[in-house]
Amino acid sequence: MKKIFLNLGRQPLANSFLKDISKKTIKREFFYNLKICFDTSNFLVSIQRPVNPKKQYTNEYAHRASESQTMRTAFKNIAFNLKKKFRPSTILEIGSNDGVFLKNFNPKKVIAVEPCKNLANITKKKFKTYPEFWNLKLSKKITKNKQRKIDLVFSANTISHIPNLKESLSSLYNVLSENGVIVIEDPSLLSILKNNSYDQFYDEHVYVFSAIAIKCLVKDYNLRLFDVDKISTHGGSLRYYICKNTAKYKSTSKLKKYLETEKKNNLNKFETYKKFSNRVKKSKKNLYELFKKIKRQNKKIISYGATYKSTTVFNYCKIDNKIFDYVTDTTKNKQGKFTPGTHIPIISPERGINETVDYAFLGAWNFKKEILKKEKERIKSGLKFITHVPYPRII
Ligand code: TYD
Repeated sequence: MKKIFLNLGRQPLANSFLKDISKKTIKREFFYNLKICFDTSNFLVSIQRPVNPKKQYTNEYAHRASESQTMRTAFKNIAFNLKKKFRPSTILEIGSNDGVFLKNFNPKKVIAVEPCKNLANITKKKFKTYPEFWNLKLSKKITKNKQRKIDLVFSANTISHIPNLKESLSSLYNVLSENGVIVIEDPSLLSILKNNSYDQFYDEHVYVFSAIAIKCLVKDYNLRLFDVDKISTHGGSLRYYICKNTAKYKSTSKLKKYLETEKKNNLNKFETYKKFSNRVKKSKKNLYELFKKIKRQNKKIISYGATYKSTTVFNYCKIDNKIFDYVTDTTKNKQGKFTPGTHIPIISPERGINETVDYAFLGAWNFKKEILKKEKERIKSGLKFITHVPYPRII
């Protein structure tokens, strides 16, 4: 049974940055109700009513995975490790973005799936690319064109975005070779609960997975979870290793231990989520009060990184351009636009990060290390950072 535990209110699409804030544009802005629920039968956490993916993954999709040094290094390392461990002769990536993972493989061995046409246009120059949504029809098309099935399916921050999880899983089974491996990376539910990072809930994150939920879910599709890695990307993610029931891989002791950790933290109980919801309400109140206090001192606050996560924070906490003068972001595509729902201007760091800024809210808190290192000199000369993770404070 699905039970709602968190209501993050009326939200726009997290990546629907506005080109202008004319009355006409604002009137057309799309909003939906962001309510999060827990399924007591399979431990799955999900958005109660997901948005239609056709509204989300358009040819204006802004996120470029290769913009960040942290992500470039992470994808290079995992590509190297997967090659060494499984020696795949065919590799399929679902949600290949701008090819940041695939570029580490021989293009002849690789297939990319990416429904955002602007991104698919980048990878198709080098790799066989299907500019389509991941579903059963596409999985059949791919295996029909291939002599062999796929040895390695990789998908980072994508499977959790697809509302029809059942079809996603049966499509994965469909393309997989007998000893093939599916490697899925997505934000970890346990990290979210520990960090109080409720901003991982936005329209694209239809599901937030845990190992106990994945273990339970894949069983219905003759698949088996056999290993898990804890990774630091996106503020704490999990990498799941899944194979066919009949494949040669044995369950690892690492997986057993991690499943126990999740159970110890009561991820299988609804009560845990109710407590989290109370912490989120407190975080909202305290963050807003912190900003108000700083504003009363006539200080200038900006936000650092126009992240999708910030869309949830700004709209839930009712933070707008009365608090922030602007948001800075390195992504060219976002610069010159306005934040979804709250309409704060986005500018480049070169223009926006200077001695007039007193405080910067870490919208991109998942890159805290990289950012604090980059802004070392500014911090020395007085710039202060604010974060809401795991609780609102000046760093
Ligand atoms: P991302 O981590 O993808 O978060 P989300 O999925 O919530 O959008 O986005 C990070 C954003 O932060 C991206 O737009 C680039 C920006 N950014 C900066 O502006 N400066 C930086 O130094 C870093 C690391 C990121």
